[in-house]
Amino acid sequence: MRTGRVSPAAPGTFADDQVPLHLLRTRAFNQRWAEQPLDVIPLTAADPDFAVAPCIRERLVRWCSEGVMSYGPPLGLPAFREAVAAWMQGTRGLRCGPADVLATDGAASAMATVARASLQPGDEVLIPDPVDFLFRHAVERAGAVAVPVALHRGACRDDAAMAIAQLKRHLGSRSRMLWLCNPHNPLGLVPARAWLEAVVHWAIGHGLRVLSDEVWSDIVYAPHRHTSAATLSPEAARQVVMVYGFSKGFGLAGLRIGCIVCADPAWLRRMAQAAEAESTVGGAATLSQVAAVAAMEDGGDWLRGFVEHLRAQRDLTAMRIARWPGVQVAAPQGTFVMFPRIDAIDADAERLCTRLLAEARVALVPGSPRWFGPGARGHLRLCFATSRGLLERALDRLDTVLLRS
Ligand SMILES: Cc1ncc(COP(=O)(O)O)c(C=O)c1O
Repeated sequence: MRTGRVSPAAPGTFADDQVPLHLLRTRAFNQRWAEQPLDVIPLTAADPDFAVAPCIRERLVRWCSEGVMSYGPPLGLPAFREAVAAWMQGTRGLRCGPADVLATDGAASAMATVARASLQPGDEVLIPDPVDFLFRHAVERAGAVAVPVALHRGACRDDAAMAIAQLKRHLGSRSRMLWLCNPHNPLGLVPARAWLEAVVHWAIGHGLRVLSDEVWSDIVYAPHRHTSAATLSPEAARQVVMVYGFSKGFGLAGLRIGCIVCADPAWLRRMAQAAEAESTVGGAATLSQVAAVAAMEDGGDWLRGFVEHLRAQRDLTAMRIARWPGVQVAAPQGTFVMFPRIDAIDADAERLCTRLLAEARVALVPGSPRWFGPGARGHLRLCFATSRGLLERALDRLDTVLLRS
């Protein structure tokens, strides 16, 4: 594996002057800079404010300057599938080969593809509650039913027996899959290996296949460690499909690039069909795959520097939010989002976000059911993948409203 070949992220890579605001204001959509009034700081969609790693930019420039933009193979460029296999083996000990990889245009699209290939109308899928809206969205678009389970709430977050008790209450004759988010958006949890082992094996033992969304798995703070669900046992390797992407760790959201990793060839074939890659109706753009290959081959040190920066951002954010009256906050173990419980200030998170936008000029995501499921009520989500200066400015503005609530 070639990760770690390049020099460490240069000092200053994540300094205040490295946020290209003039570009973000025209290029960063999805509730971010390009969609906000000029005086608003958006801590909304989980998308970094920094430009991508130099090794990615250089590779794209080279590829573009060579000028050949032909069709790629349906399942992905050989270099992409090889790089994913090497990355998964090298970073999380997942034994997989290029043949187990299907390139997709993003993790969201990978989830939708898995759903289409694995579910029949009326099938039920157990999903965590709260969790990113994409879980419910992908399941429902396949005609199946998403069944929210309080899988991580209260004592369930550490106690697998309690989490399994919750799952049992929702298991029915139409249950087909369990979908997990690891690390978890928006809770920031990184399940311990023993918890994951118990939950995944319970699911497999009850005839459920498992989708493990690991799009956040490069953003984990020591001493926590990411365990990839398919590494748990040979049985898990067969019954787990991994969804992965490059929007979080490498900031490639706009290139819409991700993948499915699955050791069951027949299941992967069905997913390739569901992705419509062979007909060319679907399929991942080759330029996006080239960027992802550069990230996996040469971006390891940049990524380590990014996680270091994020850890400091996380600590500051948790410390500052803990001062807001009655608010409960846990520093995330992974991801770059924080999900404080704010119902002591206002039980209606949408109303609070509207007020914070109007009075503090900071945009946040309310913990409303439409974004994260019913279990998100009374929370809001804040993304801290920006510079220290912008984060401090946003927190100062929020303080001026919330410390006088
Ligand atoms: C848990 C989770 N899954 C999937 C996605 C979508 O990722 P992508 O941009 O690769 O489609 C996100 C993005 O926020 C996410 O948080």
